[in-house]
Amino acid sequence: MKPDLHNQIGSAVALLRAGGTVAFPTETVYGLGADVSNFSAVQRIFEIKKRPADHPLIVHFADTSRLHYWARDVPEQAWQLAEHFWPGPLTLILPRSHHVPENVTGGQDTVGLRVPDHPVALALLTALGTEGALAAPSANRFGHISPTTAAHVQEELGQTVDMILDGGACEIGLESTIVGFSGQTAVILRPGGISLAAVAEVLGDKVVLPEKENRTVRVPGALASHYAPVTPLELCPTESLWRRALELESAGLRVVVMEWSARKPDHPENTDILHFPMPRKPAAYGSLLYATLRRFDHEGLDRLLVEAPPDQPVWAAIADRLQRASCVPGFKAQADDHDSSRMDGNMTHEAV
Ligand code: TXA
Ligand code: MG
Repeated sequence: MKPDLHNQIGSAVALLRAGGTVAFPTETVYGLGADVSNFSAVQRIFEIKKRPADHPLIVHFADTSRLHYWARDVPEQAWQLAEHFWPGPLTLILPRSHHVPENVTGGQDTVGLRVPDHPVALALLTALGTEGALAAPSANRFGHISPTTAAHVQEELGQTVDMILDGGACEIGLESTIVGFSGQTAVILRPGGISLAAVAEVLGDKVVLPEKENRTVRVPGALASHYAPVTPLELCPTESLWRRALELESAGLRVVVMEWSARKPDHPENTDILHFPMPRKPAAYGSLLYATLRRFDHEGLDRLLVEAPPDQPVWAAIADRLQRASCVPGFKAQADDHDSSRMDGNMTHEAV
């Protein structure tokens, strides 16, 4: 780590101890952190983000073996996942211990816990000491796209945050996988950097996706509209992508097409439609997605027309975020019948 970043971590710790807020990089997205034990600093996070007070924050800490300090009645499955995936893009929802103040969890009896895998985050959390931790949501305004660079945090939060630690672009680019427990069964509450298959591999078969109607816990990332750019985003199947783009253009709309399959014969010539090829591999796609949406949000366009991702488990987190960002809710990811060559990535630990 560069010496100036080292000094900045010292200043960040001082600010946090004094009740300030610090944005910091993680391997998923940037977080907006406050000392868990400082009531008013945690309140400030809700104000800065304009986030309703009943939406719980994730508690970040450095040392996996301290899991039992922040949670009680930790099931064996949670330990297995923590030991396997931490530091990493996994958040565990567990009964909170008395070390977690109520305002951090929005009044709920459970807490989201995560050990992030980023040198700056880990250095910061380690410097806070064994009983230190940061309550941190993604460092964006409520409902908007999570920031994946320090410049994005600045753009989202401006002067409202006391300090931004710049650790470069986040490698994964999508938020962590959230896992809760229902008895002995692990439940994926938000798909993310770790796939359902990878969780199932560690635990055996006992992993399920939640039934929406049974959700009693507030997960803003699970609201139908979330992670959204300002410019309307529309998902479109590959077959009709360019037809739809031309339709929108002839209706007078300025359009960008974000396409992963790049099927050349479909591309019309002599149009003003912008064309942005996206990566064909989900890990690379995930790490670019938010930065790309953000970039086109600044270009005065009328529509972001996004090719629907393949309906495959390794694309689950991307499909989830695109559906929530979409102005046409309920659109499903499509069956992938074009090409299977991009599925050769490591399925067990990548940005799905
Ligand atoms: O990758 C990530 O998870 C990033 C980085 C900064 O760690 N954090 C993040 O935080 O995405 P946030 O607050 O933007 O999203 C966390 C999600 C929210 O949907 C929240 O409701 C849910 O986790 N969550 C937190 N605590 C919970 C709890 N006790 N029960 C259920 N859901 C919880
Ligand atoms: Mg968020």
